[in-house]
Amino acid sequence: VQQTAETLPLSGRHMVVTSGPTHEPIDPVRYLANRSSGKQGHAIAAAASAAGAKVTLVSGPVNLPDPADVTMIHVETAAEMLLAVTEALPADVAIMSAAVADWRVASEGQQKIKKDGSGAPPSLNLVENPDILATIGHHESLRPSLLIGFAAETQNLLENAKGKLERKRADWIVANDVSPETGIMGGDRNTVRIVSADGVEDWPALDKTEVARRLVSRIATHIGPAKS
Ligand code: CTP
Ligand code: CA
Repeated sequence: VQQTAETLPLSGRHMVVTSGPTHEPIDPVRYLANRSSGKQGHAIAAAASAAGAKVTLVSGPVNLPDPADVTMIHVETAAEMLLAVTEALPADVAIMSAAVADWRVASEGQQKIKKDGSGAPPSLNLVENPDILATIGHHESLRPSLLIGFAAETQNLLENAKGKLERKRADWIVANDVSPETGIMGGDRNTVRIVSADGVEDWPALDKTEVARRLVSRIATHIGPAKS
C-alpha cells in the first residue's frame, strides 16, 4: 500500500527548527562565531519533513544545502534569528538546535577597525544576546506545546541540562557532550541524552542523521499527526 500524506506520523503538524551558529558583526569585515556546523539541526528539519511535518528551518550561516521541502529562512545574528522564529510561530513543535552566539558586540563599528600603531589591541564591549529558547518558553501565546532545546556542555552535562530545562521552560533538552574527547562540534556523530521531567534517556553514539530520525520518531510518538 502506498503511504499517503495523511498517514505520515507528523502529517499536518508545523515544526520550527533552528540550526547553525549565529554570526555577530564586529565591524564590516569581522564577526564573532562558533564551531557549529548546522548538521544536527538541518538533519532534524529533513527528518521532520520526511515524516510529513510542515517545517520552517531558521538557520545561521552554514556550508550546507537547504534540506528539501522545508521553508528556509537564512539569518545571520541572534537578533535576526529571534525575529524569524517569532514570525514563524505558532507551531506544534519547536526545536532550538542552533548554537546561538551568547554575546554580541555592543555597537558594531561602521568602519573597519584599524590598528592604531601603538600595539595595543582594541577592546570589544560585549553584551548578552537574547535567549531565543527561553523567550519562547516563557511566552504565553507563542510557546508550542512541545518545546525542545539543546544543551552543549563540556562538563556537568546532566546538571547543566536539567538547569536549562527549568530555566528556559523547555519540555525536553537534548544534552550534547561537546568535550574534545567525545563530541567535537562540527563532526558527523553525536552522543546525546534526552532530559525531560520524566527522567533521562541515554542514546548511544549515533550519526547525526540517526539522532534526527530518533528524535523525530520520539516527537511523533508524543504528539502524533494532526487530528483531521
Ligand atoms: N539558546 C537560545 N538563545 C541563546 C542561547 C541559547 O535559544 N541566546 C538555546 C540553544 O539553541 C539551545 C539552548 O538554548 O537550545 C542551550 O544553549 P546553550 O548554549 O547550551 O546554553 P546557554 O543557555 O547559552 O548557556 P551556556 O552557553 O552558558 O552553557
Ligand atoms: Ca550558549
